[in-house]
Amino acid sequence: MNQDEMKKAAAEAAIEYVESGMIVGIGTGSTANHFIDCLAKIKGKIDGAVASSIASEERLKSHGIPVLDFNNVGQLSLYVDGADESNRQLHLIKGGGGALTREKIVAGGSDKFVCIADDTKLVDVLGQFPLPIEVIPMAQSMVAREIVKLGGTPELRKGFLTDNGNVILDVRNLEILNAVETETQINQLAGVVTVGIFAHRPADVLILGSPQGVKVLN
Ligand code: 5RP
Repeated sequence: MNQDEMKKAAAEAAIEYVESGMIVGIGTGSTANHFIDCLAKIKGKIDGAVASSIASEERLKSHGIPVLDFNNVGQLSLYVDGADESNRQLHLIKGGGGALTREKIVAGGSDKFVCIADDTKLVDVLGQFPLPIEVIPMAQSMVAREIVKLGGTPELRKGFLTDNGNVILDVRNLEILNAVETETQINQLAGVVTVGIFAHRPADVLILGSPQGVKVLN
């Protein structure tokens, strides 16, 4: 089973969390795309979806799934999204696809966050994957200097702007031993819009596709 097949298996397994009449929060990325494709098969069961990116919105609409404005729907019951890394406490690194800010918003406004991934994403300590940070463009150099003081090596994601018109710094060489503390610390830097650590609002369920089948961590 290759990595994409494992992502697809995790996405298929997440469908069982979808209940009749739900408005489902939808993440971004290749695993979330598999979930959207699965959701399309049961689209009559749900009232619609809230998208965490323009790309996911377009994919949902292409399947005829109504996409609703998050401001008009209140608290969601369910959010389903992928991740770049997860530890066993279900603290995540997200933002490889650059949608971290809207993802954190929708995850934060959902009762249950089901994270779907292949099992290569499960790690003991977060930080092997370069940590994405969305930054207001004029603060990019200043934030980069602050990240260097924390021991990280930031690199501007070239030729990329987020759906919110901001830049991304990808930070290597950070060993994130206390994800809650590091999330707070980086969030507090002026100019940072969102850091891609999801620890204050971790996943509630992690579904991992693996060669041995699907594993679920709570
Ligand atoms: C996008 C994300 C994605 O969830 C993360 O990058 C995982 O992507 P994929 O499912 O393609 O492996 O955080 O901002």
